[in-house]
Amino acid sequence: MDASDIDLTGQVAFVTGGGGGIGRSCALCFADMGADVAIVDVIPDRCAETAAEVEKRGRRALQFPINVMEVEPLQAAVAETAKQFGRLDILVNNAGGVTRRAFVDLQPKNWARHIDLNLISNLAATQASIPIMIAGGRGGAIINVTSIEGSRAAPGYAVYAACKAGINNLTRTLAVELAEHGIRINAIAPDYTITPGVTGNFTGPVSDTANLKMPPEQLEIIRRRIPWGRAGIDEECGQLAVFLASRMSTYITGALIPVDGGSWASSGWIRDKTNNWILPPEVN
Ligand SMILES: NC(=O)c1ccc[n+]([C@@H]2O[C@H](COP(=O)([O-])OP(=O)(O)OC[C@H]3O[C@@H](n4cnc5c(N)ncnc54)[C@H](O)[C@@H]3O)[C@@H](O)[C@H]2O)c1
Repeated sequence: MDASDIDLTGQVAFVTGGGGGIGRSCALCFADMGADVAIVDVIPDRCAETAAEVEKRGRRALQFPINVMEVEPLQAAVAETAKQFGRLDILVNNAGGVTRRAFVDLQPKNWARHIDLNLISNLAATQASIPIMIAGGRGGAIINVTSIEGSRAAPGYAVYAACKAGINNLTRTLAVELAEHGIRINAIAPDYTITPGVTGNFTGPVSDTANLKMPPEQLEIIRRRIPWGRAGIDEECGQLAVFLASRMSTYITGALIPVDGGSWASSGWIRDKTNNWILPPEVN
């Protein structure tokens, strides 16, 4: 092994939801390591901002200001990326989201929206990418951004959690189907990560520092619930995405990797005020 094994120079990445949060961070981390990046985001200004940041790093960028819930434009964007850049090595299925509401109150249109955004978009981009990666003859890396909610109960988020669980098993299944083509597929499972979405910014511009302000009460809740004692930073998902895209992970496929400061491991244990680990309801 040497340092060049983490290098992505010459590779091409396609990132959905790349204009903000975890997707933006994946795009910028790839560019930092040498890749050219195509960015999909429904907000054109965000698409443009990430593309400009990729170019600032000396890499080429493509912008696709489209909605991932529309299968044909999304698949066309994958094809256009391969056409313009001549190859496709990395796909990050990141775009996703959720609105909290009891399952019993949801209408079929609400289920459909969640499924289109979180699951169908993944199927669409993945299916468009596989033949291109196979034709390229170099294999590829597909990285699905799932969630801790795909592996545990998530009251108020039932359809989202079902979609993320679906992505988890899609990841394992395709890892087997695609092994003979040298295409690895893995999933990143964040818990609470500071992004525009979780801070309530669904339309405005993003910046690396604007997202970091949190009231002390919220910081204390996070400190007690997450073993690492703080929320995740979007770049921590980007770092793992680079590892999973690189030659540092050539034998890793079908894996579901938490990026959660230990939340999945703690599995219901929380800190009390004096820093002892307890299981509710013995809260003090
Ligand atoms: N942030 C967290 O705490 C957290 C935790 C677990 C899982 N996740 C997952 O990580 C992924 C990214 O989350 P985030 O917090 O970075 O989100 P975010 O809302 O901060 O950013 C998502 C980006 O995707 C874009 N986007 C949203 N809907 C789109 C659509 N239909 N078409 C194209 N672009 C669209 C948005 O404009 C935005 O720029 C999601 O799949 C989410 O489920 C996030």
